[in-house]
Amino acid sequence: DKGGYRHFMAKEIAEQSTVLGAAVKYYLSNREGQHTLETGLDFSGIDRVVMVACGTASLACFTAKYWFEQIAKLPVEVDIASEFRYREPPVSDRTLALFVSQSGETADTLAALRYCAGKVGKIVSIVNVAESSIARESDVVLPILAGPEIGVASTKAFTCQLMVLAALTLQAARQREVLDGAALAEHVDQLMRVPGQVADAMTCEPQVQAISAQLAQYKDAIFLGRGAMYPLALEGALKLKEISYIHAEGYASGELKHGPIALIDKDMPVVVLTPADNMFDKTVSNMEEVRARGGKIVMVSDAAGINKAGDGSWQTVAMPRVDGPFAPIVYAVAVQLLAYHTAVEKGTDVDQPRNLAKSVTVE
Ligand code: F6R
Repeated sequence: DKGGYRHFMAKEIAEQSTVLGAAVKYYLSNREGQHTLETGLDFSGIDRVVMVACGTASLACFTAKYWFEQIAKLPVEVDIASEFRYREPPVSDRTLALFVSQSGETADTLAALRYCAGKVGKIVSIVNVAESSIARESDVVLPILAGPEIGVASTKAFTCQLMVLAALTLQAARQREVLDGAALAEHVDQLMRVPGQVADAMTCEPQVQAISAQLAQYKDAIFLGRGAMYPLALEGALKLKEISYIHAEGYASGELKHGPIALIDKDMPVVVLTPADNMFDKTVSNMEEVRARGGKIVMVSDAAGINKAGDGSWQTVAMPRVDGPFAPIVYAVAVQLLAYHTAVEKGTDVDQPRNLAKSVTVE
């Protein structure tokens, strides 16, 4: 049931605020004013986290690497399952191995999990389908509580994966005693504000729809982001290519001048994901480089960022102000809507894009 929406993807994008609200309640239950994470996991004997997944789920892991390393001071290695499983990477009983999969049936992710079984301290999975193979073979299963995701392009599963990974980061930080109580409480507050900010972010839809009408005329697009917005740039490019069939690449903003800038001309839209945070000025200087070469900038930022950058952008998308590290969950809405409306504009089969399957059970 599409619930009145034209596509499952539109419904699933719109549902995110609600399902994220449920996930945050589930994982951060409030006992005696203390927000504690209900996972039963213990990070105190762990010195490394290995995260393994495919596609969009691997980009949720890549985003979480920034959180785990900055907030919980825990080294994280992220790998795509098809590479991890054949490389025979060394793991130990002090390694926590984390597998992220919406379906819980992805063949390469399951094979990577089986490679780790018996070699690592704990096998943890973050899944949507609770009765899946990956869930069954894990020591600890963390459900993302997104509800059924029908659209082939992952949207609400991605943001719910991020929510669980963020909550897990805070638990790791608490158990490892790397943050003082006030800093931890601030991050808990920031995470609890995310579902409301995701609802606010949806108000960009008419603006994004107008931009998509233009974007649909182009053959290529580049997405740029810095820090935890870099994995979201990769996700924005993946989403756009899989449903609109426009060739798109994501890059770290700082990598632009190391090659991709050669692609910039008047036919290249460049979507820049940049909240007005401590790295904003650096990204603005990357935007100047794009503009100087005729590239068409779609700036996704908050009011302060859009104001500061002046009017050199071709298009702007306004996001709510998000303090702290969890902005990628909120900005995900912008890249999802951009892909969705561009695909609708092009008339592609949004929920069932060509050549793709919802669950990839062969390698
Ligand atoms: C992209 C997409 C895929 C999946 C990938 C992993 O929108 O949906 O990249 O994320 O095939 O699938 P799961 O999460 O089921 O293991």
